[in-house]
Amino acid sequence: MIMIKGLYKSFENEGQEVEVLKNVNLTIEDGDIFGIIGPSGAGKSTLIRCFNLLEKPNKGEIIVDGVNITKLNGKKLRDFRKNMGMIFQHFNLLQNSTVYKNIAFPLEISGYSKDFIEQRVLELLDMVNLKDKKDAYPSMLSGGQKQRVAIARALALNPKYILSDEATSALDPLTTRSISDLLKFFNKKYGITIILITHEMDVVKEICNKVAFINNGRIIEWGNTYDLLNFPKSIEIKQFVNENNFKIDKEELFKNVS
Ligand SMILES: Nc1ncnc2c1ncn2[C@@H]1O[C@H](COP(=O)(O)OP(=O)(O)OP(=O)(O)O)[C@@H](O)[C@H]1O
Ligand SMILES: [Mg+2]
Repeated sequence: MIMIKGLYKSFENEGQEVEVLKNVNLTIEDGDIFGIIGPSGAGKSTLIRCFNLLEKPNKGEIIVDGVNITKLNGKKLRDFRKNMGMIFQHFNLLQNSTVYKNIAFPLEISGYSKDFIEQRVLELLDMVNLKDKKDAYPSMLSGGQKQRVAIARALALNPKYILSDEATSALDPLTTRSISDLLKFFNKKYGITIILITHEMDVVKEICNKVAFINNGRIIEWGNTYDLLNFPKSIEIKQFVNENNFKIDKEELFKNVS
């Protein structure tokens, strides 16, 4: 379980302190697929980067399974991070390494034996259905395949949590569906808790059991997806949901006429 309490984060911009997260409070239960939505610049990526301390908050607590991680450093922080796999919009693969090497990377830096690594990488390739791409380089793969390599890499150390920052945003709708289905599969099969940022309402509707709406550094509302999307209390969410639904309808309309 992750509990965020009174979280503040600011950046210095041209000598000015800009507050990007303002008193964020959230609870993510084990087994959740927790969506974070909100307009561009709202603070979504900054918030998710606080979960594994890629950003250090100025104030507040992040309690992961009973430990306040904001106090961790050195080996303890490195060990903690093994429990948090992360995937990104642009995959962040090592371009000059094969699929095998990309997935092996976190295992190698954690000091596992060659035999163990080989066994684990093959197992992961099987899990993401990419066995036949073992020796391919990222440039030879489709976007969906690249993201599956990134997912396998994120799962390599058996994390309890996966952080996903717009992992399907560079993919077409069908591939988006296959990646979000894969995340849901890992959530159900291995009980991995997933925290994901997305601007695609379809992804939220299909896989997130909870969702938080963030605007201008504040959590406006959070709760179970059905209630938040169907009965939002705030006008900001109503507008956001309507705008995004409209976009989907319009795209579908264009697909049908062309
Ligand atoms: N390292 C940084 N230094 C200064 N300002 C930053 C830094 N990182 C983020 N910001 C600012 O913090 C605010 C929130 O950024 P963030 O990337 O968290 O937004 P976001 O909700 O993820 O947006 P998007 O949907 O466009 O990805 C923005 O105004 C951004 O300019
Ligand atoms: Mg972002």
